[in-house]
Amino acid sequence: MRLVLVGPPGAGKGTQAEFIAAHLSVPKISTGDIFRANVASGTPLGKEAKRYMDAGQLVPDEVTINMVRDRLGEPDAADGFLLDGFPRTVRQASALDKMLADLGTGLDLALELIVEEDEVIRRLSGRRTCRGCGKVWHLEYDPPRTSDVCDRCGGELYQRDDDKPETIAERLKVYARDTAPLIDYYGAQGKLVGIDATGPVEDVTARAIDVLRSYCG
Ligand code: AP5
Repeated sequence: MRLVLVGPPGAGKGTQAEFIAAHLSVPKISTGDIFRANVASGTPLGKEAKRYMDAGQLVPDEVTINMVRDRLGEPDAADGFLLDGFPRTVRQASALDKMLADLGTGLDLALELIVEEDEVIRRLSGRRTCRGCGKVWHLEYDPPRTSDVCDRCGGELYQRDDDKPETIAERLKVYARDTAPLIDYYGAQGKLVGIDATGPVEDVTARAIDVLRSYCG
């Protein structure tokens, strides 16, 4: 199965991607995670991406599309994948369609996570990520036992630079302008399905899996 997750920053794409990808036995490919790994290890790609990420802007399409093309060419993605955070523009979506057509295949579904703006702001403001294992926590919805310490690995928790209030506001603007048009793009292809992504994480996962079952068998 070849899927993309669509939704505003903080809708829970990364959280749900873990569970859905495990359920489907496909790799979860997160462009945000790939960029952050490059930033952490100081690669040229990371240095370029950081400028945009810190400002709440999108990394240029050419850079992102080439990175995803390389990743989708790896053997583990041959039989399916779940993309989290890509595509983010109509240009990226049409590049993805072309990549898959060149491989003789196509996208099965775009799953939209629907959450109101005040809730995504609450989710982003309270998010904390582990420097050790990368697990994502939330100070209110999924708090660690000791603040700033990961229950899973004991690593230090940090707040992403782009989760500061002024950057969140910019990311939401960029989403409305550049990414929300994907809803029409995939709607016109008959591949869009939206789910209510509010409520407990496991309820959202159950809704997503139900939808995938009914659309893709
Ligand atoms: P990226 O990492 O993709 O960020 P994003 O899309 O803004 O999404 P987030 O990771 O912020 O949120 P999410 O929806 O994954 O939510 P999460 O599950 O963590 O991109 C970062 C940057 O990289 C971009 O701004 C851009 O610069 C660059 N970039 C990446 N891809 C790009 C591309 N294709 N093109 C160009 N540039 C690109 O959940 C959020 C919080 O809510 C967590 O604390 C979680 O615990 C909590 N939570 C989740 N679900 C629930 C629930 N049901 N109830 C309560 N709390 C919940």
